[in-house]
Amino acid sequence: MIDVNHLSKDYLLKKKEPGLKGALKGLIRPQYEVIHAVRDLSFHIDEGEIVGFIGPNGAGKSTTIKMMSGILTPTEGSVLINGENITEHRKTVVRNIGVVFGQRSQLNWDLRLGETFELLKHIYEIDPVDYENTLEVMDGILGIKELIDKPVRQMSLGQRVKGDLTASMLHSPRVLFLDEPTIGLDVSSKFALRRFIREINEIRKTTVILTTHDLGDIKELCERLIIINHGVMMEDGKLNQIVDRIAPYKTLVVEYYDEQAPEHEKCEMTSHEGNIAKYRFMKKDITAAELIADLSKQKEIKDVSIEEAGIDDIIKIAYGS
Ligand SMILES: Nc1ncnc2c1ncn2[C@@H]1O[C@H](COP(=O)(O)OP(=O)(O)OP(=O)(O)O)[C@@H](O)[C@H]1O
Ligand SMILES: [Mg+2]
Repeated sequence: MIDVNHLSKDYLLKKKEPGLKGALKGLIRPQYEVIHAVRDLSFHIDEGEIVGFIGPNGAGKSTTIKMMSGILTPTEGSVLINGENITEHRKTVVRNIGVVFGQRSQLNWDLRLGETFELLKHIYEIDPVDYENTLEVMDGILGIKELIDKPVRQMSLGQRVKGDLTASMLHSPRVLFLDEPTIGLDVSSKFALRRFIREINEIRKTTVILTTHDLGDIKELCERLIIINHGVMMEDGKLNQIVDRIAPYKTLVVEYYDEQAPEHEKCEMTSHEGNIAKYRFMKKDITAAELIADLSKQKEIKDVSIEEAGIDDIIKIAYGS
C-alpha cells in the first residue's frame, strides 16, 4: 500500500550573523546551514493499518507526513502509494489520500463549512450519492451536520478539526494522514476523534498514519508504532513487541507486614519505603510467581501487584530521556 524508500529531507536555512555588518554580509553572500530533518527512512505500511508515527519535537514527523502526502518534495528517496510515486504522479495519487494537520486548517475561513464541502465536491468531482453517504457517516461519528451552516471563522478548535476531518474524507481516500489531530482538544472531542479513526478504519478500511504526543491516542488506536528521533528510525513494530524488546522487565510491588524486606538474587530492589518494596526482574530470568514464592519463604507477604513497562516507559527510553 505505502512504500517509503530511503526518504530524506534537508532544509536550507539562511544563517544570520548579528549586527548591521552581518546583515549586509548575508545580503551579499548568504551563508546556509543544512538541517537534516529526515534521514534515510524506509518502511512499508499495509492497507487497513493504523500506524502511530511518533517521536519528540523536531524529530521530523511533520516533514515526513508532508513528503508522504505530496506537499513537500523529498531531497532523496521516494514514497509509493499503491505502487505510484507521489512526486511523479502527484495529481492521481492525491485522490487516494487525505491529510489533516491539527495545527493548521485546510478549510476556507471565508466560507460556511457546507460551502467548503460543496467546493471540494466539485474539485474532486465526487459522485453526489457518495458525497451524501460520506456526510451521513461523518454525521453519525462527529455530528457534523449541525455545524454545516456555521462560518468556519466562527468555529471553535474542536468544531474546526471535525470540519477538517470530514473535508478530508469527502473524496473517500484510501489513506489518511493525521498530524497531531487531537492537539488542544477537550476530552470529549478527543474521544470523538478516536472513534472517528477507529470507525473509518473499520467501515471503510482506511489506512491511517497518525502523529501524536498523546499517549492515550497511541494506546487506544495504534497496534503498530514507528518511532523516529533526529530524523532517524528508532523503532518499527508492534507496540507490545517494542515494549518486550526495549523494556523486557516487570516490577513486582510487595507489601510486607513490617519494614524488613528480603533481597532476591535474580532481581534488583529498585525501591524500599516503609513496608513496601519494589523488585525489578527480567522476564527471561524469573517469573512473577516464582519470585513471590521465593520471597514469601523468607518473609510473610501481605499484598502484591505487578507493574509492566508501558508505552510511557517505551517513549522515555526511545526518546533517550
Ligand atoms: N520549513 C522549514 N525550514 C527549515 N527547517 C525546518 C522547516 N520545517 C521544519 N524544519 C526543521 O526540521 C526538523 C524537523 O521538523 P518537523 O516539523 O518535521 O518535526 P516534528 O517531528 O513534526 O516536530 P513536532 O513534534 O514539534 O511537530 C526540525 O529541526 C525543524 O526545525
Ligand atoms: Mg510536527
